[in-house]
Amino acid sequence: MLLARFPRVSLCELPTPVHLMPRFGAAVGHDKLYIKRDDLTGLATGGNKARKLEFLLGEALEQGADVILTESFAQSNHCRQTAAACARLGLDCVLVFASVEPEMYQANLLLDHLAGARLVFAGEISLKERNRILNQEAKQLEQAGRRPYVIPFGGSVPRGALAYVDATLELMRQCDERRIDVRHIVICKGTGGTAAGVAATSAMLGKLFELHVVAVEGEGGLDHMRAEIIDIADELLRILGRRPLVPVADTFTLYDNYLGAGYSIPTQEGIAAIRTLASTEGIFLGPVHAGKGVAGLSDLVRRGSIPPSEAALFWHTGGVTELFVRPELFQPERRGQG
Ligand SMILES: Cc1ncc(COP(=O)(O)O)c(C=O)c1O
Repeated sequence: MLLARFPRVSLCELPTPVHLMPRFGAAVGHDKLYIKRDDLTGLATGGNKARKLEFLLGEALEQGADVILTESFAQSNHCRQTAAACARLGLDCVLVFASVEPEMYQANLLLDHLAGARLVFAGEISLKERNRILNQEAKQLEQAGRRPYVIPFGGSVPRGALAYVDATLELMRQCDERRIDVRHIVICKGTGGTAAGVAATSAMLGKLFELHVVAVEGEGGLDHMRAEIIDIADELLRILGRRPLVPVADTFTLYDNYLGAGYSIPTQEGIAAIRTLASTEGIFLGPVHAGKGVAGLSDLVRRGSIPPSEAALFWHTGGVTELFVRPELFQPERRGQG
């Protein structure tokens, strides 16, 4: 009901599953660890962006758009899902990358290409410059008689983040039905829209859980990133016409200590988390996003911030294709020759 007035197009298989991770829990010393499988949203290997695209492309179709443009780096999960969604809906897709064109397309980039997106490699430029090129592409298309719709970086505008209000309500229903009292949720933050949707819902409902947000990019530092989440969440509450029962700022803790040297640079802890989750539960994480998230979850359990008596849930936001960008990180140890 809350979201019924926002145009939406169906792209995901919902609800995504929630289940216990008994063998992973035993490995990290917590027997009430759950996972929400947004890696199984069903669009182009899954992930959180498919949910956002339901609302963004819903708006685009309502406006009569016939070509979708968005921007990121060449191995973006957001771009992969946008390209696939456009293919499914019969829309043209233009992706602007702040990257040089690689000799060999692989992982997400290969999928973007297969889905028929037009790829614009703008070189190693600033985000501001990339945004300028994106808008210029949109303008040229408009002048040629097309109807472009531009999705900003990561789809992290309030319209896209509405999807994580919907997703959090979905999770709360699943927990109610199953009588799971989730006290802690751990989720990754890139551009911030996903965490903002969860935080806004928590603020609206009076803080039902502790939200632990693991930053996987560190642009601007902790205060800036916190403000990004709060701004999107406040705007979400405004467009929903809801007053928060607790301030958004009080609903989450943001961590930058699982990021390592920066966005898309793998950490030892993230790689270890990927190996452990894969070998205990058969669930795959990528080194750019969810691997660092599960490293954060494991550390919070170890430190007692997530005590063994309180159920916790990792919100898996996808990104399995990241594994195929850096396969050398996961090769078996081989004995020396001779
Ligand atoms: C797999 C994965 N997890 C988490 C995130 C973070 O989502 P957001 O950009 O909404 O913070 C992203 C996007 O960057 C992602 O691709």
